[in-house]
Amino acid sequence: NCSLNTTTNHLRHVESMAVLPSGAGKIPRLNAVILGEALASEEDDLVFPSDDFARQALLPSAQKYLEMYKRSVEDPAGFWSDIASQFLWKSKWGDTVCSENFDIRNGNVYVQWFKGGITNICYNCLDRNVDSGNGDKIAFHWEGNERGFHDSLTYTQLLSQVCQVANYLRDIGVKKGDAVVIYLPMLMELPIAMLACARIGAVHSVVFAGFSADSLAQRIMDCKPKVVLTCNAVKRGSKVIHLKDIVDAALSESFEDACLTYENRSAMMRETTKWQDGRDIWWQDVVPTYSTICEVEWVDAEDPLFLLYTSGSTGKPKGVLHTTGGYMVYTATTFKYAFDYKPSDIYWCTADCGWITGHSYVTYGPLLNGATVVIYEGAPNYPDPGRCWDIVDKFKVTIFYTAPTLVRSLMRDGDAYVTRYSRKSLRVLGSVGEPINPSAWRWFFNVVGDSRCPISDTWWQTETGGFMIAPLPGAWPQKPGSATFPFFGVQPVIVDEKGVEIEGECSGYLCVKSSWPGTFRTLYGDHERYETTYFKPFPGYYFSGDGCSRDKDGYYWLTGRVDDVINVSGHRIGTAEVESALVSHPQCAEAAVVGVEHEVKGQGIYAFVTLVDGIPYSEELRRNLITTVRNQIGPFAAPDRIHWAPGLPKTRSGKIMRRILRKIASRQLDELGDTSTLADPGVVDQLIALADC
Ligand code: WTA
Repeated sequence: NCSLNTTTNHLRHVESMAVLPSGAGKIPRLNAVILGEALASEEDDLVFPSDDFARQALLPSAQKYLEMYKRSVEDPAGFWSDIASQFLWKSKWGDTVCSENFDIRNGNVYVQWFKGGITNICYNCLDRNVDSGNGDKIAFHWEGNERGFHDSLTYTQLLSQVCQVANYLRDIGVKKGDAVVIYLPMLMELPIAMLACARIGAVHSVVFAGFSADSLAQRIMDCKPKVVLTCNAVKRGSKVIHLKDIVDAALSESFEDACLTYENRSAMMRETTKWQDGRDIWWQDVVPTYSTICEVEWVDAEDPLFLLYTSGSTGKPKGVLHTTGGYMVYTATTFKYAFDYKPSDIYWCTADCGWITGHSYVTYGPLLNGATVVIYEGAPNYPDPGRCWDIVDKFKVTIFYTAPTLVRSLMRDGDAYVTRYSRKSLRVLGSVGEPINPSAWRWFFNVVGDSRCPISDTWWQTETGGFMIAPLPGAWPQKPGSATFPFFGVQPVIVDEKGVEIEGECSGYLCVKSSWPGTFRTLYGDHERYETTYFKPFPGYYFSGDGCSRDKDGYYWLTGRVDDVINVSGHRIGTAEVESALVSHPQCAEAAVVGVEHEVKGQGIYAFVTLVDGIPYSEELRRNLITTVRNQIGPFAAPDRIHWAPGLPKTRSGKIMRRILRKIASRQLDELGDTSTLADPGVVDQLIALADC
């Protein structure tokens, strides 16, 4: 039971809430704490921060949050420019802090924050910390896949290494605004490469090193980088992955620019690495020859910082574009408050820099705060499921941020792997990527955190740049499974299917009204798709693609994607991407992919496939279809289940009825609903008969 100290905390909170500003209007309703109503009712499972935690917290009460939140939405310009002033700007932004059109009905959507302000995010991450006397503080602790392999860099050392890479990039002709593709595993060279790009104003596009050659090629074709940064191989768990081979396959003959390759000796020596003279260069041969001092390129707050491709509801990935100033201010501020960050913290986020979490909360957010960050190269359960807690004890990690899928998988492996380690350094836990189910939440809280550490369940997206709805540890009680309340400046809105805002206790589609500094500015090369995907479904708002409900106390509960995106182990995968990979197999005529509940991954991929006439379904074909998806997208997108479908349920106009497929996939056969509108209702029985084929 995690409702700790309920009585004493109840009184303390209710007492401290007596002077709260009104919860009316658009200010979050923290009725549970304000009135103590929810506390009286049995069905609510409120978890209070301990007195010790609340006492030291940056935001010790809901009241303080409400004051700040109120200002952040009533005077966003004042609120955010006060925070932005704490960073280094070569020159300040103009009179307009924020200018936006978030309402498609009023013309093109655009967002600008701190326009005219001149800064550099790498300078703010590194030089600013070195200049303020923190040069000897550890920036990165790196832990290799194999126990016993580790390394670290102080802020001064990190700055030197970033400068060398930046000088190399400049020397080969990379200029402000040029794209650079980074395809690296979790070596320190990955954030080093990102920061080097930022230093010279180049736009990095990190591609997760689990993507296949085809996916990498697609991204390279879209953003046309001047150079690709990679390494020869990496060991993950007991497997060696030959990244350079994947890059070779992705780079077309016509790619004549540089491929800078880090020799990752723990996985592979250079002698056995395939090499293309003239194009490929060993990182270790050139980078150390450059100066450790590199002048920064001062850029406008609205100059692009990076592109990150993410899945949408069509086969083509979307290049989410973030700019510099607003993103910098937003990631730094969200990191600080959502994790109650203090300079003495040791922070570990298990995400890979190939995803947005690794951009905002491995690299930029923590370094902007001068934090010490742990980076782990390997698999979290290698060589055994205790590895994470071994790392926590080794580096005395105080803030541990991970994904529900890992929590569930470690939970399944049993408590003994956790309890054999001390974990006493931990004080804040975090969760991201998908809704965390209450039982996993409780296990994380009770077993991993010894019922002592608040859990920051952060809801956000590649598009939002930083946290949108998240608990501020210490400020209010948590409800397991709820991301709780909006961050400063964020105005969530729940709308019905007509786009009408619903108030109070309700469920619907989660939208956001007006911009926040970390808002993405466009989809690279396709502003029209940006508007159509995010701003047209519910005019007047940004549409997140997520379903959500709000309870009587105003707590938000995310319920998952409502579009054609599946969330597998926290990875966003478009059903259309998997379908197009499947039909590229010469024997597959048609495919329909749906998400189905999965005990560990959250959602699994369930694919219905129709074969070319005359081709028999076989075990070998099933395996080949799965391999096709692995090769085209990446191993993480491999279907969990292939269901042979001689016919698919279609309406008379030829539209596949996915609602029915979802029910068949989850074996909810008594909930199929009305099938009479199908062109051939018989296919449903046929599919059910083949379900266990
Ligand atoms: C889901 C990851 C519930 C959601 C940062 C969103 C979550 C998608 C949470 C974005 C959470 C992320 N609770 N759902 N705490 N965090 N999601 O772009 O469906 O990879 O739309 O960004 O993940 O995934 P993305």
